[in-house]
Amino acid sequence: MSSAPLSESQVRDCLRGVNDPEIGRSLVDLGMLKGVRTSSEGGTAVTIKLPTPAYPAPERIADLVKGAISRLIPTSGSVTVDFVWEVAGKDSGGTLGLRAKNVIAVGSGKGGVGKSTMAASLAVGLQRAGAKVGIMDADIYGPSVPHLFGVKGRPHIVEEKGPEGQIIQRMDPIEADGVKIMSIGFLVAPDEPVIVRGPILHRTIEQFLRQTAWGELDYLIIDLPPGTGDIALTLSQLLGLAGAVVVCTPQQLALIDAVKAINMFRKVKIPVLGLVENMTGEIFGRGGAKLKAAEMGVPFLGEVPINAKIRELGDAGRIRAAFDADSPARAPLQHVCEQAAIQIAKSLLETPKMPSLEIL
Ligand SMILES: Nc1ncnc2c1ncn2[C@@H]1O[C@H](COP(=O)(O)OP(=O)(O)OP(=O)(O)O)[C@@H](O)[C@H]1O
Ligand SMILES: [Mg+2]
Repeated sequence: MSSAPLSESQVRDCLRGVNDPEIGRSLVDLGMLKGVRTSSEGGTAVTIKLPTPAYPAPERIADLVKGAISRLIPTSGSVTVDFVWEVAGKDSGGTLGLRAKNVIAVGSGKGGVGKSTMAASLAVGLQRAGAKVGIMDADIYGPSVPHLFGVKGRPHIVEEKGPEGQIIQRMDPIEADGVKIMSIGFLVAPDEPVIVRGPILHRTIEQFLRQTAWGELDYLIIDLPPGTGDIALTLSQLLGLAGAVVVCTPQQLALIDAVKAINMFRKVKIPVLGLVENMTGEIFGRGGAKLKAAEMGVPFLGEVPINAKIRELGDAGRIRAAFDADSPARAPLQHVCEQAAIQIAKSLLETPKMPSLEIL
């Protein structure tokens, strides 16, 4: 069949009818159609802008785009689809001077369900996908993020000029595996108890956010301590969070606590990105969190099986290796990272944009 050159507007009109497989809305309306080039030889090159580098299986979009063009215009020549990404975000750190596009809190109602493991995994997974990522340990009394990444040390103090020329002292986060880390664990000796009263706790968290030289981040993950909503409330007053990931185990009790955590986040106006079932398996059971998520009207981000390897890697300060090709935890953890990133993108992109302006 001979190929007739297509016009760019023909292609755009055609792609108006193609929905993003994750968000379920037109690629054009979502502003994801970044460019269309057609050549006189009949070839068409489409560029799609993904809202996160952790977009799950973008080749599905390529198939849909190719399918739509060839169905509508059977004489079309070759179609190539390229991807670029730019993390969508609401620049949540305004008054704190924090330049993080998305701040994600990781919490649970119950202790020991794997929040820190999941927070660290989110950081690693998003970083490996290509994003700029930081992680802040907001568990002042039991900081475990440095341990999971196998890092110690004291942050360097750097001096920066403030907006009025004043000198501001900031702490450089400690970087491990490309992730910027800040924790009170860096500031106190490992066996030293941290005694911080309520109001000071609020200030400590604020200082951590304000005085860490995070630089520009696509995602800042915050590992919350178990239980009460104190810190969540503090965070919601300081930042416009992208949302919270709630971790639970399949046990009935953990599920009851997860419901409490979801309600707590709702109360302090932090959107719930979704629920993760951790330690799924023979010991604790399976599937309870998915049902609970549906019941509560929150997304289900996935299940992570109970696996001795996850504990061993965490204990050894090698949580990054959970994403190695031969790791049994890789696929489930990656799925959770992708789903969390997609939920953020979804909440931002769902507001319709001016389609014609987006693709100029
Ligand atoms: N999927 C899993 N399989 C096996 N072990 C796991 C899994 N997830 C977490 N663990 C282990 O469970 C323990 C508790 O995990 P973690 O410290 O992440 O929980 P937490 O909710 O942050 O706890 P805390 O409430 O004390 O902050 C750790 O030893 C960790 O390695
Ligand atoms: Mg923890």
